[in-house]
Amino acid sequence: MTKSRENPIDIDKDEFQKIGYELVDRISDLLGSMGERPVTTDKTPKELGDLLGRATLPENGGSASELITSATDLLIDHSLFNGHPKFFGFITSSAAPIGVLADLLAAAVNPNVGGQILSPMATEIEKQTIGWLCDFIGVPSSYGGILVSGGNMANFTAFLAARTAKAPRVLKEEGLTGIGKKLIVYCSKSTHTWIDKAAILFGHGAGSVRWIATDGSGRMDNEELERTVKADLENGHQPFMVVGTAGDVSTGMVDDLEAIAAICMGHDLWFHIDGAYGIPAAVLPELKGTFEGIAHADSIAMDPHKWLYSPLEAGCTLVKDPKHLIDTYSSHPEYYNFSLTEEGGSQNYFEYGLQNSRGFRALKVWLSLQQVGRIGYVKMIREDIELAHLFYHLAEEHQELEAGTHNLSIATLRYVPMDLSSTGKEKESYIDKLNEALLDDLQHGGELFLSNAVISERYYLRACIVNFRTTEKDIKESIEIIVRSGRRTHEELQNGADPKE
Ligand SMILES: Cc1ncc(COP(=O)(O)O)c(C=O)c1O
Repeated sequence: MTKSRENPIDIDKDEFQKIGYELVDRISDLLGSMGERPVTTDKTPKELGDLLGRATLPENGGSASELITSATDLLIDHSLFNGHPKFFGFITSSAAPIGVLADLLAAAVNPNVGGQILSPMATEIEKQTIGWLCDFIGVPSSYGGILVSGGNMANFTAFLAARTAKAPRVLKEEGLTGIGKKLIVYCSKSTHTWIDKAAILFGHGAGSVRWIATDGSGRMDNEELERTVKADLENGHQPFMVVGTAGDVSTGMVDDLEAIAAICMGHDLWFHIDGAYGIPAAVLPELKGTFEGIAHADSIAMDPHKWLYSPLEAGCTLVKDPKHLIDTYSSHPEYYNFSLTEEGGSQNYFEYGLQNSRGFRALKVWLSLQQVGRIGYVKMIREDIELAHLFYHLAEEHQELEAGTHNLSIATLRYVPMDLSSTGKEKESYIDKLNEALLDDLQHGGELFLSNAVISERYYLRACIVNFRTTEKDIKESIEIIVRSGRRTHEELQNGADPKE
């Protein structure tokens, strides 16, 4: 028998099993005790740096078993847990436990899902996952797509496909300057910051984004959209893309997608929907009307790592005619010896997006779609929405709270003390300052985790519930925690404390 090569990185089968079992035991304990832990660490970055130690790069290696144990200790003792039942910050979901196991399996098999020949079964699984995601949100399976790292990347992937589809062909050879016209993109003022990043990074400049005002309900003002498109055409620019949002990041509002689709059709514009957060809610029969128009979209961004509860990272770009992805991302360099026309439709994902080598993100999404099923997702998403409504409703009823908005699973509210003597602008700016300090207090307190939204220039606390562990009790307790902390923060401010201290 050939002796295996001496190397410092392999772990033999028995030791791997032992370390793995111990790790799985630690992870099971963590998952079983989320709610009993603080949501986040109380340590400062400096304290965490001290804990980690300031060791230099090791010259010689160490024991895998000890390293895994100490990394597990560090992370379990000093992390923020978005899987905690009272985590409602930003839009990061509790991670499905099956996704945790899926990531381990994916890393063990380690297929490179850039090329079909390198990932025979994994590519098929990703194709099936994409088909199921289309079915989930209610667009035809003729849409194709690709899994990416998250919402920003999903939107970027679509942005570039839109540009290739709508800009003159000279773009590929000559670049943006060869077009001779400014390419313009339209979105509402509540669109996520990815759009600015895309315009800057892809050479259009931030000035090529038209931020359309929102109406009283927070949706894009489609009359202003149409007027702006016409004005740009008259000024010799080339409008190419409109972004509708299906669940805006601050308040969860869904634009009038049907109306935006009609404007896009009228002016031959690419219609993209940023559904990174909200589009999974299209699975609810009662929200069919809210999402009317999604099947007109040329492209859709959605994020399984938000409301499908996948562990990070999993985003997805869906495109009505996937040839636009290939047109954008395929350049067939010679050293790729992958068959592109093979019988049975071999699919090489390096031609569908920005990445070349790609990990197996699809596995966790594919497995949780099967573990939960459509009916299970309907139940969880519906309950998240009901819990957000409860948050809003309890704020409405409480004398010291003011309810702001409730859309999908996002509720906003603010703490307003009853003893304020100031009025008008002075009062409003004090309430802003108080709620900012209150959020800081809550985020460091470890009892719950919220983030913020600015609505009509006022500062609100914001709870986004994409969390299958949250219960009604958690919401009721959270209201009490907010009020208790609000009273204390108000008292401190009244006594002249610096809210940042
Ligand atoms: C509507 C929307 N688009 C895009 C993003 C960016 O997603 P990610 O953080 O996964 O890149 C977010 C994040 O919250 C979002 O809510």
